[in-house]
Amino acid sequence: MAMATSPHSLLLQNPTPTFLKNPKLPFTAVPMTSTRISPTTTAKPMSIKCAATTTPIQDLRPNPPESQDRVFNFAAGPANLPENVLKKAQSELYNWRGSGMSVMEMSHRGKEFSSIIQKAESDLRTLLNIPQEYSVLFLQGGATTQFAAIPLNLCKPDDKVDYLVTGSWGDKAFKEAQKYSKPKVIWSGKSEKYTKIPAFDALEQTPDAKYLHICANETIHGVEFKTYPTPKNGLLIADMSSNFCSKPVDVSKFGIIYAGAQKNVGPSGVTIVIIRKDLIGNAQEVTPVMLDYKIHDDNNSLYNTPPCYGIYMCGLVFEDLLEQGGLAGIEKKNKKKAELLYNAIDGSNGFYRCPVEKSVRSLMNVPFTLEKSELEAEFIKEAAKEKMVQLKGHRSVGGMRASIYNAMPLAGVEKLVAFMKDFQAKYA
Ligand SMILES: Cc1ncc(COP(=O)(O)O)c(C=O)c1O
Repeated sequence: MAMATSPHSLLLQNPTPTFLKNPKLPFTAVPMTSTRISPTTTAKPMSIKCAATTTPIQDLRPNPPESQDRVFNFAAGPANLPENVLKKAQSELYNWRGSGMSVMEMSHRGKEFSSIIQKAESDLRTLLNIPQEYSVLFLQGGATTQFAAIPLNLCKPDDKVDYLVTGSWGDKAFKEAQKYSKPKVIWSGKSEKYTKIPAFDALEQTPDAKYLHICANETIHGVEFKTYPTPKNGLLIADMSSNFCSKPVDVSKFGIIYAGAQKNVGPSGVTIVIIRKDLIGNAQEVTPVMLDYKIHDDNNSLYNTPPCYGIYMCGLVFEDLLEQGGLAGIEKKNKKKAELLYNAIDGSNGFYRCPVEKSVRSLMNVPFTLEKSELEAEFIKEAAKEKMVQLKGHRSVGGMRASIYNAMPLAGVEKLVAFMKDFQAKYA
């Protein structure tokens, strides 16, 4: 329906207030005064006049879920978020649940935000079945900061640690660890352009290594551990930034799991650390307070001002994942999407290629190239015209990469696969 006058568009920015859901309320009752509206309050007199008062209310609401103005975003991160989560955040943006404030305006020590962070933690614990002996920390600084925080908290400067390097992120973690410990790369996939993961049993581990570090899913190269190694001393540390909450994980097998939120569970700015409690409290003396797990654990992630809005968004995503039935169901959906895409690549008679060994192909990040590499720019351009964006591969590897995190609907992958077939028919 065409809108009669522009003030209606103001209504459309907040899709779910109660007054819009109640068809008996007249449009002349749109509040734009200083009083904020709780989703539960009824309408009050308003200051905006709307020209059309006879149009049925439901016609004025934004498009239903798969709205026409959204693209399929295949970015590696920050990445797409579930549409219903965005809409819920939109509906609560101006006035969070009758508090008269946005989450962005709340004291991080107030009762409202306390309830938000506690619920986020509790839902994450349920999702991942996190044992009580583990702390959950909501931190800042990205996963990159954890590359330093981990050796600083777990090692003395001369302690030995092992790194299994299956891609660029594992390599960066190793390099940072060199400043605070004595790390050794026990295997690197660099010479094979990071397309493999080795059989762990055949590798020689450093006998007294304090821990083994892996990157569970290499976002740039698209290689993912399907089973996890058991290091000699039992302490496994995993960067799960790009497959966090994409499938169930046995947390008890890890000393630390850490992840930046911006791929699967929220916006950038939040880093989640799940750490076995007995590993906390031994940081090197030089450790800055912001990197000391004990400081954050003792203060329930509120030592300083946390990324409140990001934590709130992560909480909405956790709620959404639970509502979908938890991580086993999510994994099934992710497998289906990935299978569809890999089958399209493998079934293209070499027109498309994925360099990664089949057994370790990522369910989250699918890198591929074109046999006729001169067509890659055209592929990306034409896909963007069809509202499929961010398909360019990482600058270090080139080609294409489709990141298909939890929030990418099956319809997005189906559309991409159909586009790939059309593109092949046109240019093969
Ligand atoms: C697997 C992995 N580890 C670490 C990082 C670095 O994360 P951040 O930019 O949040 O520091 C990324 C970012 O893309 C990543 O994909």
